[in-house]
Amino acid sequence: MLKSQIVGIGHYVPEQIVTNADLEKVMDTSNDWIVERTGIHERRFFNPETDTVANMSAKAARMALERANVAAEEIDLIVFATITPDYFFPGSGVLLQRELGLDKKTIPALDIRNACSGFIYGLSVGDQYIRTGTYKTVLVVGAEIQSSTMEMNTRGRNVSVIFGDGAGAALLRPSETDSKGLLSTHLHAEGSFAEELYVRDPGSSRKERLSPEIIESTSVRAHMNGNLVFKHAVVRFQEVIHEALEHNQLNKDDIDLLIPHQANLRISKFLQSQLGFSDDRVYNNIMRYGNTTAASIPIAMSEAWAEGKISEGTLLCLAAFGSGFTWASALIQF
Ligand code: UT7
Repeated sequence: MLKSQIVGIGHYVPEQIVTNADLEKVMDTSNDWIVERTGIHERRFFNPETDTVANMSAKAARMALERANVAAEEIDLIVFATITPDYFFPGSGVLLQRELGLDKKTIPALDIRNACSGFIYGLSVGDQYIRTGTYKTVLVVGAEIQSSTMEMNTRGRNVSVIFGDGAGAALLRPSETDSKGLLSTHLHAEGSFAEELYVRDPGSSRKERLSPEIIESTSVRAHMNGNLVFKHAVVRFQEVIHEALEHNQLNKDDIDLLIPHQANLRISKFLQSQLGFSDDRVYNNIMRYGNTTAASIPIAMSEAWAEGKISEGTLLCLAAFGSGFTWASALIQF
């Protein structure tokens, strides 16, 4: 079976920069608190007049296609990871297909809702289709508009200072040699923690999905038990990285670059210290974009690639943890 390889990676972030000073004006928070607890200095918020989850992901996809020198028409399958779709249904995959002008080609579009782990879950799905020879060119996307669901006031501050908007995309194709490509993906979930980081409404198991009471309550907003998420994240990130290394009979010193999901800079720094990695072996951009959920890994990969940090010979490790709880890792030999 042929491995799959990432042949192109791209991203798009909205133009509007929201600084910590901007947030200080609308809620009881401070630049010092946000920087010290999260490492975030600024994030991007979408423009409701121009940006959608689908068109942001189309921009990211076009960058990935251009860098890979592949035409959109060659895509056989779209795998779309988001927890903030443009519509309740259908998923954003079909909207991206239309944005890319592929609707008349009727290629399949598959939607994934695994939050911060969504991009790695998506990579694993694309990888399986390529390994079995079902599809040759798979577009895997992670894109989110988080800002429109956040409460921009003191009540919502534990969530609204963290999250941001953006999109990233990767193009998968069969690897040319067996020694290169996506070596493995490892996926996990633990549903007992589902309500520790979730948006409850509009849920289907209610007599009415939406009512004025539901809208007025905070149940349409993200609820996060930040301390608990943090404690689980630092353990699961390490576990799933070591699982990937053991599976491939590799050592942590073999990893050239680690891109953790950009959840919180303190989580990345803790992970870095546990692994004993120098700064140049861990890529972080949460300072500029906040936590963009499913988009964070592909945005970081795209920037790291543009900065020359991912090139021929790089062993890249991706790891994620988030709502579900779900967590995952991937090892990629370039
Ligand atoms: O994407 C994957 C999922 N998400 C994560 O991985 C996030 C994981 N968790 C975290 O990143 C951290 O738990 C947070 C950044 C969310 C919170 O940091 P923390 O160090 O765990 O703070 P805390 O929740 O324990 O709150 C400490 C204090 C509280 O005040 P008291 O009770 O000590 O008086 C909060 O009310 O900070 C207060 N606080 C804030 N103060 C200023 C909470 N949010 C804010 C805020 N600005 N935005």
